[in-house]
Amino acid sequence: MKKKITVPEIMATKQNGRKLAMVTCYDYTSATLVNESEIELILVGDSLGMTMLGYEGTVGVTVDDVIHHGKSVKRGAPQTFIIGDMPFGSYNVSVEQGIINANRMFTEIGCDAIKLEGGKRSAAVIKGIVEAGIPVCGHIGLTPQTTSMMGGFKVQGKSMEAVERLLEDAKAIEEAGAFMVMVEGVPTAVTTYLKERINIPIIGIGAGADCELQGLIMQDMLGLYEWVPKFAKKYALLRQQVIDAFNTYHQEVAEGAFPTPEYSYNTKVEGLE
Ligand code: KIV
Repeated sequence: MKKKITVPEIMATKQNGRKLAMVTCYDYTSATLVNESEIELILVGDSLGMTMLGYEGTVGVTVDDVIHHGKSVKRGAPQTFIIGDMPFGSYNVSVEQGIINANRMFTEIGCDAIKLEGGKRSAAVIKGIVEAGIPVCGHIGLTPQTTSMMGGFKVQGKSMEAVERLLEDAKAIEEAGAFMVMVEGVPTAVTTYLKERINIPIIGIGAGADCELQGLIMQDMLGLYEWVPKFAKKYALLRQQVIDAFNTYHQEVAEGAFPTPEYSYNTKVEGLE
């Protein structure tokens, strides 16, 4: 059986060259599948706003939403390292507010770490949460909670000025005590530039191969959507398989071909023959 990875083991990837994989997960059944796989980490992402709730973005997801989904993931994946994602509005008022919400996520989900977006602007709250005893993963680059400020879901770090700002953000996250930083939606060369200048591992999503860890959205990698971003490799094509299964079932019901005796309780009931 898989043994849950630890924060020191994740941090050690910076030196030992080990590569780890993370996938998002939001429900019990999927969590049992990840738990049976070799994937080391799960993110209960605020992307659940899109994948589970049908929102256009992540804004609007609440701490209660993440806790609700996170608890079911935890029940399904006890051997997998679980990161709970702090949603927009749960840590941008004060350090105290961030610690209170991080405490809720950590204790109510029973997750192993939390993640929050922002570099320098989130450094104080990261420090507060780490000092409260909760491992924190930072998140810079394309940060979905603030895409309105970025003008949409756009690749970041496209000028040297922007790259230097990303480096300042990554360093601020490291100095605040985070054990890892997620870098999203940047050119591969930018990831390498950052990686060579910080001392904590990078988990990349759309950030190229030069990261200690990689992350993907589960629905993207399973091929449950037609459209996926460029970086999201489809490791299965489940959308069409699921639709085909639905249609076969529908047709068999319409034709009276389902259920056959094989799928029926055939117990003899006295007096009913
Ligand atoms: O919420 C999420 O799923 C994320 C992804 C970018 C991994 O933060």
